[in-house]
Amino acid sequence: MTTRTATRFRPFGTTIFATMTRLANEHNAVNLSQGFPDFDGPDFVKRAATEAMDAGHNQYARFAGEIPLVEQLAAGFADRTGIPADPITDITITSGCTEAIAATFLGLINPGDEVILFEPFYDSYQAAVAMAGATPKFVRLTPTDGRFTFDPAELANAFTSKTRAILINTPHNPTGTVFTIEELRTIADLCKDHDCLAIADEVYEELVFDRTHISIASLPGMANRTVTLSSLGKTFSLTGWKIGWAIASPELSAGVRSAHQFLTYAVPTPLQHGAVAALRDGQDYIRDLVTRYRSARDYLAEGLSGIGFEVIIPEGTYFIMAEHTEISRQLGTSNDIELSRKLITDFGVASIPPSVFCTTPGLCANYLRFAFCKKPDTLTEAVHRLRAIRG
Ligand SMILES: Cc1ncc(COP(=O)(O)O)c(C=O)c1O
Repeated sequence: MTTRTATRFRPFGTTIFATMTRLANEHNAVNLSQGFPDFDGPDFVKRAATEAMDAGHNQYARFAGEIPLVEQLAAGFADRTGIPADPITDITITSGCTEAIAATFLGLINPGDEVILFEPFYDSYQAAVAMAGATPKFVRLTPTDGRFTFDPAELANAFTSKTRAILINTPHNPTGTVFTIEELRTIADLCKDHDCLAIADEVYEELVFDRTHISIASLPGMANRTVTLSSLGKTFSLTGWKIGWAIASPELSAGVRSAHQFLTYAVPTPLQHGAVAALRDGQDYIRDLVTRYRSARDYLAEGLSGIGFEVIIPEGTYFIMAEHTEISRQLGTSNDIELSRKLITDFGVASIPPSVFCTTPGLCANYLRFAFCKKPDTLTEAVHRLRAIRG
């Protein structure tokens, strides 16, 4: 059958998350592939949303976001970064960070522009660059001294006269790297030298274990050239709510909003009111969640190491990258895609093959990504099943 899909989407096919989740369901596998919690979000937040519904907050929201929510976000952003944000002009509420990414690219990047992406990358970036008609330039993150990082010379070489933006995802999915102040300074200096934008995806901003998360917007000279993106989903275990946001100067926000108004126009009103409660009263929840995820990380890292994986301990996010050369040798698989399929079909555990987040052939092919945003019982069962690899 000839495809009718527009040419710009043909390279992308179905996302790996849908594919792996379907395969995991078919084989009744423990699903450590897609990054969603298998437990519910906080009751006080759900209650705030249902109360908002009962109080009649059920018509279109303000297109850039309900006033109490943008006020809450502006105050939080100023606290964290020291940058005063005007709730009315600088904050746009989107349908998850995914829409914020798409709206930022569509609203601020022109066809023919180049955009720098680190690889491995979250899969929607490449599609968003394609939607904007721009060209991606890739810079590799590779393991050095137990964490994934970039080579500053390779990064500097990626900048050209056509570079319009660089996307920085910190804490980084899938590698778990939280960029250091030195790494962010290197990126910021190149942005300033080449007069380009920084698009900062910070959806895992609260999920950090061994480092402090720093927003690149807070570095000198970056506030007016950065669009900071985030969402509620990871921080409050409410990935299905799809409440996201873009924070930027009025000039940059105008670009984001020009796309947002025609993509979704506005985001579900009662859920925005629930989000206000989360951001206002959620500090204890976040503290407990980070404690819980730290234990989950340590448990899974130890379990995977005991089975024969070489684990990179993530500094943030809820993903572990595990090197599988020894396991693959034992099981007769030659790359991450073959191994992740075998782990589902023969051992009943689903992971993600991270080479699908790369364009450089072979990059990350000797790793698997496991999500640990799961109940202790789920992780125990996954480790138990994987122990069968050892025979
Ligand atoms: C790095 C990164 N950015 C953005 C998203 C999407 O966020 P949302 O669910 O808020 O659209 C994800 C989800 O997994 C992610 O990992």
